[in-house]
This record gives sequence, C-alpha cells and structure tokens, in this order.
Amino acid sequence: MSIEHNLDPNRIPKHIAVIMDGNGRWAKKQGKFRVFGHQHGVKAVNEITEGAAELGVEYLTLYAFSTENWNRPKIEINALMSLLVKTIKKETPTLMKNQIKLTTIGQIDSLPGECKAELQQAIDATKDNTRMTLILALSYSAKWDIVNSVKKIAVQYKNGEIDLSDINENLISGSLSTNRIPDPDLMIRTSGEHRISNYLLWEMAYSEFYFTDVLWPDFRKEHLHEAISNYQNRERRFGKTGEQIAEKKN
Ligand code: FPP
Repeated sequence: MSIEHNLDPNRIPKHIAVIMDGNGRWAKKQGKFRVFGHQHGVKAVNEITEGAAELGVEYLTLYAFSTENWNRPKIEINALMSLLVKTIKKETPTLMKNQIKLTTIGQIDSLPGECKAELQQAIDATKDNTRMTLILALSYSAKWDIVNSVKKIAVQYKNGEIDLSDINENLISGSLSTNRIPDPDLMIRTSGEHRISNYLLWEMAYSEFYFTDVLWPDFRKEHLHEAISNYQNRERRFGKTGEQIAEKKN
C-alpha cells in the first residue's frame, strides 16, 4: 500500500511551510546553468501544491525568493522574476480549477512592476477560493517582518493607542505579514541543508522540521507523503511532558 493511503486523514498538518532548495545544484549536476534548475523547480511547485490540496492541507507557504536572494547575480534574479511572471500567468487557471487562493508575504513593493501586476491579478482572481491558501514568500525575510512589526507597534504606542501592557504575543503575531495565517505545523526543507535561513522565525517556534536530501526539482507528491507520514509519527508536546499529552488523549 502506498504511503498516501497510510496517512491519518485526521492528522494532516493544517499549514506546511517549504524551503525549496537545491535548484542550482540540480542544474550543475547536469552541466546546465542554475536557471535550468529553477525552471524544473516549477514542476515540483505544481506537484506539491496539488498534492497538499488533495490531502486537505489548508495553508501551503513556499519560500520563493528571500530578501537575501537579491544579492545573487543580476542575471539569475531577472530569470527568477520572469519565471515567476510566466508561471503565475500559466497556472492561474489551475489554481481556479483546484479552488486555491493565492496570496503573498514579503516586500512585494520591491518586486519588478510586471511581477507585481501579475501577482495582483492572480490574487484578485483567486480571492474567493476556499480549498487551500497558497502563500508565496517573495522578497521575504523573517527578520524584516519582525522589524516591521516592531515599528508598527512603536507607532501605536507613540500615538497612545496602546499601553505597554497591550504588547503581547497576539499583538506581535497580528502585526506580522503572516497575520490571519496559522503557524506552520510542518516545515520541509529539501537538498540536505539543515537551516531555516531567516524563514518564519516567529511563526515556527513549535513547528516540526523535516529535512530531505531530495533536490527541489526532483520533489514529487510521494516525497510530500513521506514528510507527512514522518510528521504523523511525532509527538507534539508544545513544552509539556509526554505523560501530559497521553493523559489528554485518554
Ligand atoms: C533555492 O535553490 C531556490 C530558489 C531561491 C528559488 C525557488 C524558485 C522556484 C522553485 C521557481 C519558481 C517558483 C514559483 C513559486 C513559481 P538554490 O538556487 O539556492 O539552489 P542551490 O542551493 O543548489 O544553489
């Protein structure tokens, strides 16, 4: 029986966050330019999006471009932006067919005009879809988001809208670009790297991490099923003891 059939439908992670890593190495292994790896990464994006929606995942966040990625060679940045525009244009009908809503986190203003326009069109077109929310992290870094949140709170305090005692976890969560999105239950990173690279630092305080050696362009539905199966075999204690968790189950 396939792993998919052994998954517990009642314990599917509500939110999966992914670091799609290894495109460059995948291309290099075939003697090709890095961009070739990104192009093939799109197939994996389609697979994981479809696979997650099929299983009933409610939120899927993909780290498509980090703030630090702006430091890459210009030719690679331009290729990634064009790929993004092309993919969003091409895949919007598929998002509609599968009832998937598209949204973004990050400094969207810093993206090229064409990219912003294409994203906005897809966001508007898919806004009423309810099966799953696909969140693209673009020009995103968690530290940038936290700094922004602190600034917003400081302004509210300065204007007398809040007291010091109003500053709590909920207020900070609500000031981040991920507000209204539940914290990730599972974070998957491909390509054998064991880092979180400035990704959802606040939101992943209690996420389960899954690392695989598979390079992103090779990532397929069965790899997603493996990650979820591994997640379902873990005990999430949120700081409590194993005995307390067992007691709650009985
Ligand atoms: C990391 O691999 C990957 C990226 C920085 C970009 C991810 C982009 C895509 C998969 C394509 C388009 C995405 C969407 C959402 C349409 P890397 O380049 O760092 O690989 P390396 O570590 O092997 O060099």
